[in-house]
Amino acid sequence: MLGIETSCDETAASIVVRDSAGKAVIRSNVVRSQLDEHAAFGGVVPELAARAHVTYLDHIIAQACREAGIKLGDVDAIAATAGPGLIGGVLVGLTTAKALAAALDKPLIAVNHLEAHALTARLIDGVQFPYLMLLVSGGHSQFVLVRGVGDYERWGTTIDDALGEAFDKVAKLLALGHPGGPAVEATAKSGDPKRFKFPRPLLREARLDFSFSGLKTAVRLQAEALAPLSDQDVADIAASFQAAVAEVVSVRAGQALARFKAELPDHKPQLVVAGGVAANRTIAAALDKACAAAGATLIVPPIALCTDNGAMVAWAGAERFALGATDHLDFTARPRWPLDLPDMKVVPDAA
Ligand code: KG4
Ligand code: ZN
Repeated sequence: MLGIETSCDETAASIVVRDSAGKAVIRSNVVRSQLDEHAAFGGVVPELAARAHVTYLDHIIAQACREAGIKLGDVDAIAATAGPGLIGGVLVGLTTAKALAAALDKPLIAVNHLEAHALTARLIDGVQFPYLMLLVSGGHSQFVLVRGVGDYERWGTTIDDALGEAFDKVAKLLALGHPGGPAVEATAKSGDPKRFKFPRPLLREARLDFSFSGLKTAVRLQAEALAPLSDQDVADIAASFQAAVAEVVSVRAGQALARFKAELPDHKPQLVVAGGVAANRTIAAALDKACAAAGATLIVPPIALCTDNGAMVAWAGAERFALGATDHLDFTARPRWPLDLPDMKVVPDAA
């Protein structure tokens, strides 16, 4: 399976082989990040992202085939992210996949980017269904019950900013650069996480949703009150912010696992983490504790597969293809595409 990913600021292509027993081999996984293109703007500029995908995608696909030791015509099918994401970029990847599918006479699989994150744990660890996924990236913060391929139930989401977005905004506020997550984490190392008691939004409510915009405002007000900030102030704010989100995420994970155990008493509770924020050690440690307390297994795929990449798209395509699902060449790119829409269900031989 060739997998193509262009929904945000990574241009990526990968060749993944799935055998009949469901075991995977990643033959190549080429990712070109556009950090340099967007650095001056402090965030991803959609039009620049789309143009960079146009410039680089065909070279990235050629490189993925070369590294895998195959020719394009050797693949069984072609999978591309068809949404959700920045629509200009999604169009570049999906249109390229359609052109290849038409020219090579191979099936097309239109992949939901969230499903690709959701199934990644099976690519590496062969994790069995069902499991709970916590997706924490620059665009999403959600708990999803993964029952099977195409069978998802969203249990909670963010009502404002995504968690990665909150890290990025706090980094911008503290002039730490972009992307903000790694910068906040590095700065927080020399800070006091107890110096500021930032709010833990929504934590008193039973719902499994997140909200990070009030926390971000509290951080801004604190920074303004202390200005001009010393290096120690910046480190203390970063550490206190990180402590607040780690607590929110781990308490929520505990609640979500409790629901898992109540609703699926015959299955062992498993929590899979996906998305760039999974790289954060403080958050990972907090999740580890929450899982230990709930008697649940925590699965964190290698970080290169947690952030956006082509292998996860190829794998999601392969899982769908193995069940007989393919898509028509007139499949439309989708800026929004919730995972729990009925059309995620696998319908064999749609094309
Ligand atoms: O999954 P991802 O690569 O891209 C998508 O958003 O789809 O996630 C990127 C996000 C950014 O917001 C980035 O700041 C955040 O993940 N991130 C982190 C860390 N590394 C990346 N957040 C906190 N701590 C980190 N170490
Ligand atoms: Zn993503």
